Amino acid sequence: MADPQSLRWPAAANPAIAAAQRNSGFGSDHGASRPIKAIGEQLDNGSNIIATPELFDAYEVFAAELAQIFTQPWLAVDHASRLAADGDYVRADIGSRSVVLVRESADQIHALRNACLHAGYRVCEAEAGNATHLYCVYHGWSYALDGRLTDPMLQPK
Ligand code: FES
Repeated sequence: MADPQSLRWPAAANPAIAAAQRNSGFGSDHGASRPIKAIGEQLDNGSNIIATPELFDAYEVFAAELAQIFTQPWLAVDHASRLAADGDYVRADIGSRSVVLVRESADQIHALRNACLHAGYRVCEAEAGNATHLYCVYHGWSYALDGRLTDPMLQPK
């Protein structure tokens, strides 16, 4: 018999997320634990697992997913076949982060933080496409496909 409490997320390593879990009552008899308990009861009964909509709306579950899954060192984002030609790129928003995967050449694929060095604005708004460089529309800084800042106005004379 599965203990519904055993289905709780482990304590968050991130103190802010752990505090959010404590403050929300996550893991107690109210709040987000209800849909988790329901899954535990379904397991106990040997029935099919049906996740309730509340499970997908619970901030505490989202915070736990960020801490336990989406902030881990390696994540598979997409298949390299989506970057078939030089200059092909795909934007991926993972948790609260945005990255750009870009093929610079046949043997060079880069994963770049999707944030401008100037003030952090996204350098890639489209979900996918092809480009010769990345360009920040906020103030016009431009970047090579390997992430190097290439704006000629910013080069030393
Ligand atoms: S934030 Fe990108 S150029 Fe200013």
